[in-house]
Amino acid sequence: MSTARIQTPGVLEEDLDRSLRPRTLQDFVGQPAVRDQLAVSLEAASARGEALDHVLLAGPPGLGKTSLAQILAAELAVPFVQTAGPALERKGDIASFLTALEPRSVFFVDELHRLSRALEETFYPAMEDGQLPITVGQGAGARVVTLDLPPFTLVGATTRAGLLTTPMRDRFGIQHRLEPYHVADLADIVRRSAGILGCAIDDGGAAAIASRSRGTPRVANRLLKRVRDFAEVRGTGVVDERAARAALDLLEIDELGLDRLDREVLETVCVKFSGGPVGLSTLAVTVGEEADTIEDVYEPYLLQCGFLKRTPRGRMATPRAYAHLGLEPPAESALF
Ligand SMILES: Nc1ncnc2c1ncn2[C@@H]1O[C@H](COP(=O)(O)OP(=O)(O)OP(=O)(O)O)[C@@H](O)[C@H]1O
Ligand SMILES: [Mg+2]
Repeated sequence: MSTARIQTPGVLEEDLDRSLRPRTLQDFVGQPAVRDQLAVSLEAASARGEALDHVLLAGPPGLGKTSLAQILAAELAVPFVQTAGPALERKGDIASFLTALEPRSVFFVDELHRLSRALEETFYPAMEDGQLPITVGQGAGARVVTLDLPPFTLVGATTRAGLLTTPMRDRFGIQHRLEPYHVADLADIVRRSAGILGCAIDDGGAAAIASRSRGTPRVANRLLKRVRDFAEVRGTGVVDERAARAALDLLEIDELGLDRLDREVLETVCVKFSGGPVGLSTLAVTVGEEADTIEDVYEPYLLQCGFLKRTPRGRMATPRAYAHLGLEPPAESALF
């Protein structure tokens, strides 16, 4: 197979991901409280012709934070400028972004919790007073010059709101936490995406994918694409319940949406560590994943399912975890 053939599907897949993103608040499925409140904030800011207040979007990966940030810019009809916490290394990086913004722009900072503490402080006067003090010159001749910034909206996204300092959090006038989606909303997202992909789907197929998507639109879209492949190659081309179930079984995604690594994490706690408690870093090394990935991606859903619990001494498996894996819980266990 030529390299070109290997690369092409990847590029197409990225384009597809982009095309699946909701573009307007109307397209954004679920999260009614967040949507309704943002609609009011947007309308008020637009009517006044002012920049929208700064917005903090928190929640697990794949729930729509980046999508919402882009929607805010689109609804306000203002430019969208994007960066991420780890990309901002020096004060000058922030200054060059902020001074170049057109008035009322949305400045999106992804992974805000990964911004260094020192740089966080650079944002305070910018967010509060639209000012940016910068030091000009060096040594004894150095002086501070204050630049006036155009009005702008900082939209911060974070998977770990708890890691933000209180002064940072307090400077966001609008704060929303995205919650895992209901199955019915995920089914709507799957149907909408199938429409964009030009893929035939019935309600049974959408429901089967939605119920194994662990509350996450990104996962729902990913599973849809894999099930579509399966339906086209092995089935009738229609994503129905049968095709969805067969494809998801083939992908080793179980009834609750747990994949192989989820089960490995659970099994490691249950079997290798006899139910725990086990520390996050030990667990990460044992399953060969980054501690951050375990904590951000795998653990929230296992906690939500009631399979794991966090204790001061580490992670522990619950009796439900043993039952789900079809394992006998240890007889002499601190679990019960
Ligand atoms: N409410 C929604 N309605 C329809 N599709 C959605 C919705 N939320 C998310 N999606 C889909 O899920 C994908 C992932 O969403 P997005 O990239 O906005 O998540 P995120 O919260 O920014 O994730 P991360 O924390 O990993 O950056 C999007 O490409 C979009 O197709
Ligand atoms: Mg994102």
